[in-house]
Amino acid sequence: MTTTQRYNVAVVGATGAVGAKMLETLDKKNFPINELHLLSSKRSAGKELEFQGKTYTVQETTPESFEGIDIALFSAGGSVSKKFAPEAVKRGAVVVDNTSAYRMDPEVPLVVPEVNEEDIKTHNGIIANPNCSTIQMVAALKPIQDQFGMSRVIVSTYQAVSGAGNEALDELRTQSKAFLEGEDLEAELLPVSGEKHHYPIAFNALPQIDVFQDNGYTFEEMKMINETKKIMHDDTVHVAATCVRLPFFTSHAESVYVEVDKEGVTVDQLKTAISNAEGIVLEDDPENQVYPTPLSSAGKCDVFVGRIRKDLDNQKGFHLWVVSDNLLKGAAWNSVQIAESLIKNNWLQK
Ligand code: A2P
Repeated sequence: MTTTQRYNVAVVGATGAVGAKMLETLDKKNFPINELHLLSSKRSAGKELEFQGKTYTVQETTPESFEGIDIALFSAGGSVSKKFAPEAVKRGAVVVDNTSAYRMDPEVPLVVPEVNEEDIKTHNGIIANPNCSTIQMVAALKPIQDQFGMSRVIVSTYQAVSGAGNEALDELRTQSKAFLEGEDLEAELLPVSGEKHHYPIAFNALPQIDVFQDNGYTFEEMKMINETKKIMHDDTVHVAATCVRLPFFTSHAESVYVEVDKEGVTVDQLKTAISNAEGIVLEDDPENQVYPTPLSSAGKCDVFVGRIRKDLDNQKGFHLWVVSDNLLKGAAWNSVQIAESLIKNNWLQK
């Protein structure tokens, strides 16, 4: 982005899977940085990371880390955000939080800039970045909601392992090698660290992302349900989700069923609405086998949509295939976009 003013930026969780993408995105988007502070836990303090040809030493996160910081990008887990985001705000920073810690707090805007950018200006120091699976789905649904209305959404996800962090990626690598060499698979982390049981992810599909809730849904599924209503400003829309982890590294794919309000909407109208939307790329040409996949979307900031079909029984029902890089649009890029919007619109002041 182009602006004359430069800002002091802290990245909390800089050594993590999303943290690395935050740095990559700040660089790629030419974010106007004055000072950059890379923060982690005690474990990685002292580690050196490169950014734009300069070497930075990672520091342990403490309340004092946020003195003089303008924008703090948090991606180090919910408990770290709960502990340190208020400390950052107390010291004058605006926090963009990529964890679930504050997402459903009515005082905290939950933002996907293509959907509800204006909500950013209501912030009191913290803006929440939604769950990765929610971001790509609502971005694809927004033009449909705007033009045709929307009453029901049913989504099944096919989620990459990188969403569970670097250790989960290591587990997938180790298990894949063991599987191909005919050895026993050891599962220590997935589906959820700290749970009673762990199952191999290599050559498998795990229908559990995050912990189970009393209603039988997982927390990831409830995130998709509740966050969609909040971001799209519609408490009446019916949303159901089934979230599944699959053994690929990057990009989440989703099969999304949506029922529109308006009568007589055609597939072509839906395609036009989607292809005109900002940040969305239509890749939909079944005759030529054109549709997005996790591999084709990895490393890109957009949300890709294909396989748009009308339901065979419900004239108001449509099926979509939505794919996006979970570490970029699903995390780092959406956070940096929010930070860019804060600057561009002069919304940094509370
Ligand atoms: P560290 O490298 O010190 O463990 P991932 O999602 O890939 O597992 O990464 C998690 C990120 O969150 C890492 O950068 C990790 O730092 C950071 N982190 C974990 N616990 C804390 C903590 N208590 N305080 C600050 N950062 C933390």
